[in-house]
Amino acid sequence: MHLLRTKSVEQSIRDTEEPTHRLRRALGPLDLTVFGVGVIVGTGIFVLTGQVARDNAGPAVALSFILAALVCGLAALCYAEFASTVPVAGSAYTFSYATLGEFPAWIIGWDLILEMALGAAVVAVGWSGYFASLLDGIGVTVPEVIAAPPGEGGTVNVPAIALVLAVTALLVLGIKISSMVNAVVVAIKVGVVLLVIFAGLFFVKGANYDPFIPPSKSTPEVGGLDAPLMQVLFGLTPVAYGWLGIFSALAIVFFAYIGFDIVATAAEEAKRPQRDLPIGLIGSLVITAVLYAAVSTVVVGMQHYTELSTEAPLADAFKAAGHPVFATIIDIGAVVGLITVVMILLLGMSRIFFALARDGLVPGWLSVVHPRFGTPYRSTVIMGVIVAVLAGFIPLAELATLVNIGTLFAFVVVSAAVMILRRTRPDLPRAFRTPLVPLVPALSILACLFVMLNLPVETWLRFLVWMVIGIVIYAAYGYRNSRLRDGADLPMKS
Ligand code: ALA
Repeated sequence: MHLLRTKSVEQSIRDTEEPTHRLRRALGPLDLTVFGVGVIVGTGIFVLTGQVARDNAGPAVALSFILAALVCGLAALCYAEFASTVPVAGSAYTFSYATLGEFPAWIIGWDLILEMALGAAVVAVGWSGYFASLLDGIGVTVPEVIAAPPGEGGTVNVPAIALVLAVTALLVLGIKISSMVNAVVVAIKVGVVLLVIFAGLFFVKGANYDPFIPPSKSTPEVGGLDAPLMQVLFGLTPVAYGWLGIFSALAIVFFAYIGFDIVATAAEEAKRPQRDLPIGLIGSLVITAVLYAAVSTVVVGMQHYTELSTEAPLADAFKAAGHPVFATIIDIGAVVGLITVVMILLLGMSRIFFALARDGLVPGWLSVVHPRFGTPYRSTVIMGVIVAVLAGFIPLAELATLVNIGTLFAFVVVSAAVMILRRTRPDLPRAFRTPLVPLVPALSILACLFVMLNLPVETWLRFLVWMVIGIVIYAAYGYRNSRLRDGADLPMKS
């Protein structure tokens, strides 16, 4: 059956050796870890913390962050094995092509495009909010009409569009430039997060932690299609707070960890992928989990959870404590820091697009790399423009949950694929082996499904629509034009 034709691991690796399709190998373990932290720390911790503490979890929001980290940790252990086994661009997509077959692989690729394109757009919109607030602080007011999308009081979000286009240009110029810029920005961002933790400690009031887990109750925020699917399935009246609220918050703050998987999409550009990728994946996850638990605990101690701001909770907690200078420093850190998130999400997206094109599931001319810069410039530019339009015209705050469901789905498939590849290709050299297979992958699948069930009903509906569109595209193009169409590893067309 063609739908399940697989591309061998050897062929995946061989494809990367074709001169016109070869990416430059320039990244070491430190680059990869910085890469991971650069995309992980972003809108999730800077913006969503306030929202979920206020609407879903109360002071217990740190528990949601810790649980989310455990879910990601399980998935990361599976990702690391695959990333070190099949070190080529395309991450989960490539892994599933080698194991589950072409159609599931396409679904995953399509799914990861959703994660990264929409993720980049969401973060660009968040960035634009901080940018406007920073300008406001120095007396420059950006008119709402050009700083917000329709539906949020404006016509077009010009700063968000400008950011996405500028980042796209950097990526076309070459990954080495991007990762150097990235390293500096990551240092600033982590510095600001540490500042919040250590300066904030002085303003923590014990009373704000009481009650630590507020009793659950029904609120407008969890009504109608915004109700978590799990609560609807069990016939409950949807509630916020309590343990169910902590779980809903977990499903939302999961966004804050998105990005560690993108380290795996840079596999083809790693100098020694077998050793460096697991270090990059797990290292960046551990660092951010510690930072998030600390930051969220401090912030809910500084301000009562019902008073936290939803736009800039970290900075506003310092304003409320009477320290606007700290707030401005945090604003600057967020403005600078969110740039790297957009940058790496766009990079990951263009690499997956590149891999889809190389395999003929989208038109092949998209995958040709630039003769001078060594980057897949066509897919980068085209997808960059699409993301810019999304960021400029669509209010995306709610769509963060759509990004989460797409990512969780990919994690489920990667975890399943780890178990399958252990049986079908036990011979492959694995620089990193997931511990306790099949226990860890099975737990990873269950944990991801559990988080998915805690997402709103509306998110599930949107996700299904996106998947149906993907299936139509595969039926109309990918199925006919796949390079594996005749069941053989064909030479490259370009
Ligand atoms: N984890 C990234 C963020 O929180 C996507 O912005």
